Amino acid sequence: MIHSKIIGTGSYLPAKMLSNYDLEKIVDTSHDWIFSRSGIVERHFAADNELTSDLALQASRKAIEAAGIKADEIDLIIVATTTPDQTFPSTACILQDKLGITNGSPAFDMQAVCGGFVYALNTADLYIRGGQAKTVLVVGAEVLSRILDWNDRTTCVLFGDGAGAVVLRASDEPGIVVSKLHADGVHRNMLKAAPLISMDGKSVFKFAVKVLSEVVEELLEDQKLTGSDIDWLVPHQANIRIIEATAKKLGLEMSNVVVTVATHGNTSAASIPLALDTAVRDGRIKAGQNILIEAVGGGFTWGAVLIKW
Ligand code: UT7
Repeated sequence: MIHSKIIGTGSYLPAKMLSNYDLEKIVDTSHDWIFSRSGIVERHFAADNELTSDLALQASRKAIEAAGIKADEIDLIIVATTTPDQTFPSTACILQDKLGITNGSPAFDMQAVCGGFVYALNTADLYIRGGQAKTVLVVGAEVLSRILDWNDRTTCVLFGDGAGAVVLRASDEPGIVVSKLHADGVHRNMLKAAPLISMDGKSVFKFAVKVLSEVVEELLEDQKLTGSDIDWLVPHQANIRIIEATAKKLGLEMSNVVVTVATHGNTSAASIPLALDTAVRDGRIKAGQNILIEAVGGGFTWGAVLIKW
């Protein structure tokens, strides 16, 4: 049986960093408010000439290097982003060119906002298990700083820019075990960008805690597992209180949760691959462990994936 194994991870944060104290100078807010409501301390913003594909390129190069493959071995690229370089061509096609890949393999973007990486990982897994791809590059990359409404202090303090990437390869060994995805467009106006981000924060908060708990339960029940079988929960990094609530429902200690929201802010589709790469490189995530990722985002979209590392 063919499985999809993650064989390399990489990530990139733009050099420019803004602390909550920096934001106090441009918005009517305070470090204490931002930190106590969200757990965020600082976030990175892309330079004026940095595009989503540039962030994706840096993260991809590191993932490709970690995987020990040549870029040309990649036979599918999926970029999860809600802030593409332009309406078209896709950021995935731009990234393919920037990586110098000329093998003619497919490349496309996936738009599920903060749920994007989970959706993209599931799609990559289906391509591999269906025999249509062997080596897939999945990237989550965002420049949310370009769609912030600086007149709305309830949202502009929450988001950041960044990119994370993974290389998946067809393998005889277990890798991606199971994915559960959902969407419900009825809630589409609770969080949207038209063209700037607006959000009913309280409603999103409640909805997020509810559906994340449900989807994690659905996945564990399907696999006949419990929270104690999970070595690391790597959640979408939107708000430390949402992360804590989900971990509690799972019966997981926070010492088994990878948390990067303090230094990254909410980077939408990039947040999970950024957190994964952080925990792989600092040695927390190791071969053989059970890794559970979960995310919820605009749409609304949500999902969870169980990975045998
Ligand atoms: O990634 C996709 C998913 N997104 C999320 O998961 C985000 C979900 N929502 C949240 O994380 C939280 O709802 C927020 C962090 C956005 C807000 O936290 P909250 O505890 O729900 O705060 P709130 O909206 O109830 O705001 C409370 C107060 C208000 O003042 P009054 O009316 O109580 O006097 C706001 O005006 O905080 C005020 N406020 C601020 N004060 C200082 C709102 N934004 C700010 C700000 N600085 N930036």
